Amino acid sequence: MQTQIAIPEEFQITEQIHQKTYLVNGELKAWNGKNSEVISTIASTKEYAHTVLGSIPDMGETEAMEALDAATNAYHRGQGVWPTMKVKDRIECMESFVKKMEEKREEVVKLLMWEIGKSLPDSRKEFDRTVEYIYDTIEDYKQLDRNSAKFQKHDGVYAHIRRGPLGVVLCLGPYNYPLNETFALLIPALIMGNTAIFKPAKHGVLLITPLLEAFQSSFPKGVVNILFGRGRAVAAPIMKTGKVDVLALIGNSKSANALQDQHPKSNRLRLVLGLEAKNPAIILPDADLDLTIKECISGTLSFNGQRCTALKVIYVHEDIKDEFLKRFSSAVDALKFGNPWDEGAQLTPLPEPGKPSYIQELLDDAKGKGAKVHNKKGGKTSENYIWPAVLYPVSKEMRVYEEEQFGPIIPVVSFTDIEEPLDDMAASNYGQQVSLFGKDVYTLSPLIDTLANLVCRVNLNSSCQRGPDVYPFTGRKDSAQSTLSVHDALRSFSIRTFVAFKDNDLNNETIEQLLEAKVSNFLSTDYIL
Ligand code: G3H
Repeated sequence: MQTQIAIPEEFQITEQIHQKTYLVNGELKAWNGKNSEVISTIASTKEYAHTVLGSIPDMGETEAMEALDAATNAYHRGQGVWPTMKVKDRIECMESFVKKMEEKREEVVKLLMWEIGKSLPDSRKEFDRTVEYIYDTIEDYKQLDRNSAKFQKHDGVYAHIRRGPLGVVLCLGPYNYPLNETFALLIPALIMGNTAIFKPAKHGVLLITPLLEAFQSSFPKGVVNILFGRGRAVAAPIMKTGKVDVLALIGNSKSANALQDQHPKSNRLRLVLGLEAKNPAIILPDADLDLTIKECISGTLSFNGQRCTALKVIYVHEDIKDEFLKRFSSAVDALKFGNPWDEGAQLTPLPEPGKPSYIQELLDDAKGKGAKVHNKKGGKTSENYIWPAVLYPVSKEMRVYEEEQFGPIIPVVSFTDIEEPLDDMAASNYGQQVSLFGKDVYTLSPLIDTLANLVCRVNLNSSCQRGPDVYPFTGRKDSAQSTLSVHDALRSFSIRTFVAFKDNDLNNETIEQLLEAKVSNFLSTDYIL
């Protein structure tokens, strides 16, 4: 007989969700094909077994083409209702969507916990942060529109300059932030007048289903189309047609490159990409160790290290290496593991069934090449978890030095000369962020000047992170293309386009009449309040 584990009533899975519809051309269409099971690595009973949450459609080329046609028709070569709509009206659609979305908070948060193992506070934060992101985007777009509601004149030529949409966007998000990061692409893409096809990530798919109706009822038909299935089966055929104008993807560079290569005219394709990273922490000899350890714990292990912004390698100065390793290792072992709803759980089950064995491979490889595990619990494995191992000394031949582990394992490298971590960063394929720990301004200053040119955010005595979402989020080399932030994303998903006319009586009179008649949605000096 199996013994149920204690799960608060509101988080229990009482009914499986079998998704049988998808959103295409404004219609929640019935899906009669094959479904794939959605499982959670979280057990419901003391005798471990994964939990079946439900199933999702396993779609293919036919549905992909249907969604593409819907998005292409809704854009209608720039003549569609959505790309030509008044900014004010597009904003109203978005406001209607976000209000309906807010009503689904509890459902989405519960699924975030079960599908990807994110803790309750972090799942709530992901939802609330996304809602806030949408409201901030609306405000920023209003300001962008207000700033464009004017004419300028140079060399006898008037110009009315705005930002216009790019066309059809294929939007693919990651499993670690299946709501926030996906919407951080989709929302600005839509509000700027593009039409979109969106496919949820490999995990965190069911949590999109409570929002399908909100999408359907808030936007004109074909503006948002939502597909389910494997990227290879649905995204690749869409790219092959050459009808996608923007590939918006948060994931890894391999998939981004593979999809980009499918496009027959890659010069036409705009890329908005958030890719992998291997953000280092650099700990100088005068670092405040209490603060450094606290920041390195959250930097390496928030959401079990499954963040693109996670600290994935720690460089510590030889003089404080022993002290750091001792204190950091005991801080790692003092963390609490539990299910996402357990009070104070900082480490939670890994959603990818194969992740513990992948981390074990990295661990074995590093140990075989001379690294030691410095914390007592390091590498302890259960059915859905592997305890984070603090590994030292880590060298360049080890897989964990090179690969983006995206999970609970912490490589530590020591240095005596600051040029060592700097050389490694310059040679790295990645260039997202760095965390720099130290106090002496004469040491920090030249380092900041160099690091700012190697990555795109230097975090001083602070762990790496994307937020607050108003700040620019980007990276160099294989880490990103384009910049995301509330402000920048509106620009990444649009292009400057304008009406120009020579200053003469005919033109001036025509423009005056045009403005008075209020018949153009583009050429308008209306001020949105
Ligand atoms: O996976 C990468 C995310 O953009 C990280 O966001 O720093 O807010 O956790 P975060």
